[in-house]
Amino acid sequence: MTLVLRTIPAARHWAQTERTSGKTIGLVPTMGSIHEGHLSLVRRALQSCDRVAVTIFINPLQFGPEEDYERYPRSFERDRSLLEQEGVHAIFSPDVRVMYPSPPSTFVCAGKLGETLDGAARPGHFRGVATVVAKLFHILPPDRAFFGQKDAQQAVIVQRMVRDLNFPLEIEICPTVREPDGLAMSSRNVYLSAAERADANILYRSLKHAQNLIRSGVRDAATVIIEMQEMIRGVHSAELVYASIMDLLSLEGVREIDREVLVAVAVRFGSTRLIDNLIVAPVPSEPHPAGKRTKK
Ligand code: PAJ
Repeated sequence: MTLVLRTIPAARHWAQTERTSGKTIGLVPTMGSIHEGHLSLVRRALQSCDRVAVTIFINPLQFGPEEDYERYPRSFERDRSLLEQEGVHAIFSPDVRVMYPSPPSTFVCAGKLGETLDGAARPGHFRGVATVVAKLFHILPPDRAFFGQKDAQQAVIVQRMVRDLNFPLEIEICPTVREPDGLAMSSRNVYLSAAERADANILYRSLKHAQNLIRSGVRDAATVIIEMQEMIRGVHSAELVYASIMDLLSLEGVREIDREVLVAVAVRFGSTRLIDNLIVAPVPSEPHPAGKRTKK
């Protein structure tokens, strides 16, 4: 039986009771519309924690005024039954008035990490994410919390927040789950028309192309980015938002690919914005023949 918790006292009580009886707690924050990507985090959490709570909360604070808060897919009963089948112990799904009884005056700001990439295109988005995740960590204090690599910038920001603000918990980042054609699973994929859906694997194709270039020895980030941009611009329904190559921790642009990097893309299909990324390591470069010393 999966408990459905709707209030903060109920969630706190559940977590405290489990903790007092010596159970470790895993937390999987989501906005619902549960898909295989979410379920992969849930399965990982169930493997490594005694009790698993999933939060389902569509957080208005992370949506811009022109964004899809109102039309974001909502399917609580379906979600509940999927999570129950997996053996999730509790679902925390509060009403918006429970999380924000009045407009908040205090926020968690991710600094520069929140201003690049999706943060540049969506001002205030990561402030909303970091704030709600901090609230969830206080309401249902977990031993471990699980996030997806699919939202790479979010993962970096949450890990950094936990370190900077001394949250006593571990963050685990889980691999991106994809459709057979490579499209990363996302609750927003349902917005795509059939034609857009057919084109949408351009994100993954462009990332794989970048990976191939880097693995074949291309070190100049700009060269790789231009090739990705050209590929994406060649797809009829796709509108490029960004293609970037960044340092894994600082999320600053990299010029020379001399270490593991984050290759990230955002593409718009009509009003639907999709993101994806790959972590790519360059092949170790061969020592230059002229640099080899020969014994005389
Ligand atoms: P949501 O988009 O519902 O995603 C919930 C979690 O599932 C996030 O950690 C996300 O990275 C992960 N996820 C989504 N698609 C995935 C995929 N294809 N493979 C692996 N993991 C995937 O991200 C959010 O909600 C919100 O910003 C939230 C953290 C809940 C704060 O409101």
